[in-house]
Amino acid sequence: MKLNRIEKALMNNLVRAAVQQCYEAPLLERLGGRVDGGRVLEVGCGWGIGVETIFRRFGAAKVHAFDLDPDMVAKARSRLAVYPPERLTLYVGDATHIPEPDASFDAVFDFAIIHHVPDWRVAIAEIRRVLKPGGRFFFEEVTRHALERWSYKTFLDHPTEDRFSGREFVAELERQGIAVGGTFEERFFGDFVIGVGRRKDN
Ligand SMILES: C[S@@+](CC[C@H](N)C(=O)[O-])C[C@H]1O[C@@H](n2cnc3c(N)ncnc32)[C@H](O)[C@@H]1O
Repeated sequence: MKLNRIEKALMNNLVRAAVQQCYEAPLLERLGGRVDGGRVLEVGCGWGIGVETIFRRFGAAKVHAFDLDPDMVAKARSRLAVYPPERLTLYVGDATHIPEPDASFDAVFDFAIIHHVPDWRVAIAEIRRVLKPGGRFFFEEVTRHALERWSYKTFLDHPTEDRFSGREFVAELERQGIAVGGTFEERFFGDFVIGVGRRKDN
C-alpha cells in the first residue's frame, strides 16, 4: 500500500533521514554487522536514504532497491544519481512479487515497509527466497501496537487486518526459515521491532 500525503511528508524529510542513519542503522549494525563487498537488496526503498546507508555504513558493493510507488523511485533515482549502474539498480516493484532470482543476495534490508503490505507473510516468503543460504535479513518494522494508536489511525493509511506484534513478526520469520533467535529488540513501548535474521540452509 502506498503512503498517503501526510506519511510521505513524514518520511521524505531530513529528520526521518537522521533517525534512519543515526539511530536505526547503528542498531542494525550492532545486531547484524556489516555487509562488506556484498550484494544487497532493499525492499521499499522510499526516497533512497536506506540505499545510501547500505553503501556508506554497511559497505555493500552492489545494491538493488525497489519501491511500489513510482514517485518514490523517481526521488531515489535523483538522490542516488552518483552511483553507477554497475553498483545500483533501482526499479518499481512489489515486495510480494520480487523480480529477482532465488538465492541471489547476501542481505536484504527492510526499513519499515512490511507493515504496509496486506499479505505480509508473502513478502517474508519472497525475502527468504531471494536470500542466499546464510544471508541476513535486516529489519525495522512498525507493529500493531503502533498502528492501533489514534494518531496512526487518524492521519495515516495502513492495512488494518492481520497486523503483527514484534514477537509475532519474529515468529513468522522463524517459521519461514529465517533464524532470528534473540537478535531483535522491541522499542518505544513495543511500537517498533528491529533485528537481524539469517536464512537457514535448505
Ligand atoms: C513507511 S515508508 C518507508 C520508506 C523508507 N524505507 C524509509 O524508511 O524511509 C514505506 C515504503 O514502502 C513502500 N511500499 C509499500 N508497500 C510496498 C510493497 N508491497 N512493495 C514495495 N514497497 C512498498 C511505500 O511506497 C513506502 O515508500
